[in-house]
This record gives sequence, structure tokens and C-alpha cells, in this order.
Amino acid sequence: MGVVILGTGSCLPAKIVTNHDLEKIVDTSDEWIQTRTGIRTRHVCGQDEQTYNLAVEAGQRALDAAGVTADEIGLIIVATMSSHTLMPASACLVQRDLGAVNAFAYDINAACSGFLFALDLGYKYVQADHGMKILVIGAENLSSRLNWSDRNTCILFGDGAGAAVVGYREGKSGYMGSRLLSDGHLWKLLYMYAPKSSNPQIVTDDHPGTHIVMEGREVFKYAVKAMEDAIHGVLAKEGVALDDVKLLIPHQANIRILNKLAERLAIDKERVCINVSEYGNTSAASIPIALDEAVRSGRILQDDLVLLCSFGGGFTWGATLIKW
Ligand code: ACO
Repeated sequence: MGVVILGTGSCLPAKIVTNHDLEKIVDTSDEWIQTRTGIRTRHVCGQDEQTYNLAVEAGQRALDAAGVTADEIGLIIVATMSSHTLMPASACLVQRDLGAVNAFAYDINAACSGFLFALDLGYKYVQADHGMKILVIGAENLSSRLNWSDRNTCILFGDGAGAAVVGYREGKSGYMGSRLLSDGHLWKLLYMYAPKSSNPQIVTDDHPGTHIVMEGREVFKYAVKAMEDAIHGVLAKEGVALDDVKLLIPHQANIRILNKLAERLAIDKERVCINVSEYGNTSAASIPIALDEAVRSGRILQDDLVLLCSFGGGFTWGATLIKW
């Protein structure tokens, strides 16, 4: 009790790619993409715009919203699978650009569940040390990791970043708990290889390239069931009824996944945050972007129960319950 989100922020690149733009690149149509995914547009990074640039901007906006200065931050965690550099971590460049002189910083990779996993870490640090303030960011430049000739994947993803400042407030309830899970058995349904080995003694002619590969239909089936189970798991653990939850903020993968999830949970669609049509799937950034929009538009008010849920490569999945 008492570990709260003090402020949120988000950042989307200015460049927008429409479905009609994609019709010029691969054999697809606006009608197919909208019907199968609900996506109309996605934001993509421009030349010289990197994952950490989006993370810095989202992080600064979260600090401003929280009324916290960068030097008060003790830790920066960036959840990403599309860091511009494998070393340093994007979080270190965020630390530099924000001037967070008292922070240590690292990245985590849990694909689309990255923000929930990072938030859980942030929560545990603050629970152990009430004086700590932590900047948790989900940031992706997925347009740099797509096979732009694969119509199965290139139409789905977008770039962006979202952030939350986590800290302690006496007497507040805040972060209540999570149900987080991973299962590596089915990793081949959704993956992205690291770059090919540079070791001259190792021959890897069949390296498929460093981009997202997916068996969409299979992923769909697992995603809905896994998020549903995680939601019921965290609600049972915390003794909360779904009817008492004001807003569900799911990972924005695809409108059909979100519709199916809402149907299985029997939750009114007005209580589900949906912005996938505008941004596509921004992986680790999708939940904090949606959270920031919900906070800024007044959809979440003090003492509201908010449920976040995710599913992504690994597989990784989970649900997190917060009393705002
Ligand atoms: N435009 C036009 N046709 C296409 C496109 C496209 N962009 N992509 C695939 N097709 C074709 C296929 O080639 C196939 O043609 P065929 O029947 O001649 O073989 C046909 O459309 C149907 O393909 P399916 O893959 O069966 O289409 P489906 O209805 O399953 O939709 C989709 C594909 C949208 C990927 C769906 O499976 C899905 O939403 N899966 C969830 C995966 C997801 O969201 N992953 C994101 C990462 S994981 C996460 O974030 C949860």
C-alpha cells in the first residue's frame, strides 16, 4: 500500500503512415487491414529519431505531470525490444538526456508485456525504499525491426513511448498487485532474432534477419485466453470483482483480440481503453500510452480501480491492478 503512479506521459513520432500508404508497399488494402485489425494509422520514427528520443520525451512529460525533477529519480527502467543500441541500454541515454544525475538505469525486454513487468519492478523497489522515485518507460521503434515486404506483420506495428513516475504517498492504496507469467515453449509463434553472429568460425547462412516473425492466428488464440486468465488471477488474489473495475487498459495488439477479450470477460466496451486504430501495436509502449491518454482525458479519477493487461512474445503475459 502507498506505492502510486505520481504522473504519466507519452510521445508519438510526428510521422504518420496510413493503410493507403502501405498499399503502395505490400499487397494489402485499407479495407483488409481495418477489418482484420482495426488499425487505420500508425506513427513511425523519422530519420535520426531513435527509441531513446521517444523515451526521453515521454519521461519528461511524466516528470512534469508528477511535479518531480529529474534529479529526484533514483532508477530509470526502459522496457523495449527495439533499442537503438544493445549497449548502452536505452535507459542510460534517457538518464543522460533527462539529467537524472542520481539514477541508475537499465533496459528490460519482455516484448509487449515489458511495461507491466517493469512497473512491477518499480513497485518493488519503492515498496522496499519509500524514499525512491522511479521512472518506468515503455518505448519502441518497431518500424526499424519489421520486414517491410511481409504483409503479415508490417501492417500491425507502430512506434511510440509511454512513461510513469512511481513513488510513495502515505495513506494511499496505489499499486495493489500483479499476476505475471512467461512460457518459452511456443516462442517460435512470435519472435525476432538477434543479429547474425560475427564470429568467423560460425556459419549461419540461414539467419532469417533481425525482424518480427509471427504466426498470427496461433498468437491470437493464446493472447485472448492468457490475458483473460491473468485478469481473473489478479482479481482473485486481490479480492476484487471485475464489476468494481472502472477501466481495463489492455495491450493494443488488434481490435479483434480486444473485442474477444471484452466478450469473454463480459465487460462493457465503454470500460475498455482502445486506441489501436490510431497507433497500431506499439508493443511495450502501448499500455503506458493508453494509460497516459486515459489519465489526461479524465477517464481515470482518484480511487478508481484500473486494470492493465498484456500479452506478447516469449510468450509473456500478465495483469496488474491499481487503485488510482
Ligand atoms: N493484407 C491482405 N491480405 C493479407 C494480409 C494483409 N496485410 N496479411 C495476410 N493476408 C492474407 C493471408 O495471406 C491469407 O491469404 P490466403 O487465405 O490466400 O492464404 C489471408 O489474408 C488470411 O490470413 P490469416 O493470417 O489467416 O488472417 P487472419 O484473419 O488470422 O488475420 C492477423 C491475420 C490480423 C495477423 C490475425 O491473425 C491477428 O490479429 N493475430 C494476432 C496477432 C497479433 O496481433 N500479433 C501482434 C503481436 S502479439 C501481441 O501483441 C499480442
